[in-house]
Amino acid sequence: MAEAAGTADLPRIPFNRAAVEGRELEYVQEAIESGHTASGGAFAARAADLLAQYSGATEVLLTTSCTSALELSAMVLDLGPGDTVIVPSFTFTTTALAYARQGARLVFCDIEPHTLGIDPDHLATLLDETVRAVVLVHYAGVACDIEGVRRVLADRPDIALIEDNAHGLYGTWHGEPLGSFGRFAAQSFHETKNFVCGEGGALLLNEARDVDRARVLYDKGTNRRAFLLGQVDKYTWKDTGSSFGIADVLAAYLLGQLEQHDVIQAKRRAVHEAYARALVPVAAEHGFEVPTVPTDRVSAYHMFYVLLPTREQRNAVLESMRAVGVTATFHYVPLHNSDAGISFAARATECPVTEDISGRLLRLPFFNSLTAADMDRVVTAFLTSVTASAMV
Ligand SMILES: Cc1ncc(COP(=O)(O)O)c(C=O)c1O
Repeated sequence: MAEAAGTADLPRIPFNRAAVEGRELEYVQEAIESGHTASGGAFAARAADLLAQYSGATEVLLTTSCTSALELSAMVLDLGPGDTVIVPSFTFTTTALAYARQGARLVFCDIEPHTLGIDPDHLATLLDETVRAVVLVHYAGVACDIEGVRRVLADRPDIALIEDNAHGLYGTWHGEPLGSFGRFAAQSFHETKNFVCGEGGALLLNEARDVDRARVLYDKGTNRRAFLLGQVDKYTWKDTGSSFGIADVLAAYLLGQLEQHDVIQAKRRAVHEAYARALVPVAAEHGFEVPTVPTDRVSAYHMFYVLLPTREQRNAVLESMRAVGVTATFHYVPLHNSDAGISFAARATECPVTEDISGRLLRLPFFNSLTAADMDRVVTAFLTSVTASAMV
């Protein structure tokens, strides 16, 4: 597509760009030179300690991805045929797939339109005796309705709450860290997230009863961890499991990032606030919505999104922004009516809010090093595109 006049010589603004923020390069070199580059190394232990101190988790297992952390939670719960897991339809595939591949059937829940988190009222209608777990997503780093979910699950202590906290690290609800509400919480350190190491993740275990078994499943089904802690004199095959541990080279990269969490979050907050300052005052006149964060929550500032009036207008705006070198993008395509979602579902459910939001949501470029000039360009491209597409 041709660049619009006057923009052809400007560099494209990407949707995301990972940045070195602290001692990442030094730590990676140290990890390589130490000779311990596999899982179970010193950098992984330090990164896990930082996460545990912050979140209050009983144990933190660093994994190869958020996906594998979710898979590990499904294994710890021993999910299988006859069990169902309730997941939002508006999420990434592996929030659901991690449980389906363990043999559980899925029930898709709709979201509420303000925070795009799971809708407690819909959740209440989906519960039956087969439900073993409910998975929450804190979309964009803003807590879902924790109070509503707790109310709905109050008389079902048998149901495990799992937080897919891929977006939410360092966000809070009522002052408590996201990732501290579920029996399990999964983090992502994929290159698109707030804290990155290429590909990486973590499973936070918030209940002591899961720690021993999770360590075995994490360590390829062996009791190697008990051996390293001096609890047994040799280690053997004990259980099912897989190779979940993060390489220490990547954990070194991650530690460099996590040590700078205040700096990184401050930069992301500044980007978020600059976009909000530019867009909130003109949203009504242009007919789009900018979500606000409920006052009882602090965002993790994972992304900035807006809602356009229609799918057609959203798509037109995306296209014309790209034509002037600004990479905005859409987000999740509903899972409940996807091919795999239909085949893994215990039964069909209706998720009209998910379908509506999915068609109208547009995400602006959002990363730590986005400059004021870049943001001006993004805002101008967005507003120009909204105006032009509204006239069609
Ligand atoms: C809500 C959510 N969960 C899970 C994932 C998967 O994370 P990972 O790539 O670390 O497996 C993503 C990725 O974008 C996500 O958005």
